[in-house]
Amino acid sequence: MNDTFIHLEETESTNLYLRKLCAERMVDEGTVVIADFQTAGRGQRGNGWESDRAKNLTFSLLLRPTHIPIKQQFVLSRLVSLAIVEVLRNYSTDFTIKWPNDIYWREKKIGGILIENDLSGSQISASVIGIGININQEVFCSPAPNPVSLFQITGQKYETPEILSNILERILDRYMQQACGVEDDLSENYFNALFRNNGLHRYESNGRMFNACIKQVEDDGILVLETEEGAESRFAFKEVSFLF
Ligand code: BTN
Repeated sequence: MNDTFIHLEETESTNLYLRKLCAERMVDEGTVVIADFQTAGRGQRGNGWESDRAKNLTFSLLLRPTHIPIKQQFVLSRLVSLAIVEVLRNYSTDFTIKWPNDIYWREKKIGGILIENDLSGSQISASVIGIGININQEVFCSPAPNPVSLFQITGQKYETPEILSNILERILDRYMQQACGVEDDLSENYFNALFRNNGLHRYESNGRMFNACIKQVEDDGILVLETEEGAESRFAFKEVSFLF
């Protein structure tokens, strides 16, 4: 695995930068693009990603997971989100993964992941894994509903390069294990790290609100909820919202 590291003071979006680079020339697996500031950081569902200059981690990692069939691409979400939570747990407690791959502290969002895959035939030829984690930001101004930073959680400031290197090491470690087939039980560990993996909570889908508990997350990323009446429903990303 190559360890090319591109540090930018400012760019539109590290995901966009890395994708453009891949379109221009051969980029090695393991390449990381990190920016002090993104002028148009991108989030899930067409949202933006707010991050003050040089306070947080905003970076993208290139993987070439040709061994992962397209149908199993959710494995990338699983291993990346789990790796991040595992590292954050060295700094404080109560970090979880909100399905499918938001990083939560209690009921607040500390990090997000935007994975953009290039497909070729039945293979994932390139996966740009964009990660934003709020580390030292004191205040959030965007309309994002519930952001939080590690600083707000612990009252301490952190060296972002140290956290970055721990996260990259953990992701690549999990990725290699998965590639060699010697991973620990990824789906079980992911489930155990899930936000609301226990008890009844409130959800909304198609304008209907209901109480349900999480039964499981299937290998293709489908969330299986069981309502309090005992009915089981399966949801793809964006088909259900968690209510707070
Ligand atoms: C989310 O909405 O939860 C996903 C947020 C992903 C943000 C990161 S920051 C680095 C990378 N570049 C982007 O433009 N987005 C991702």
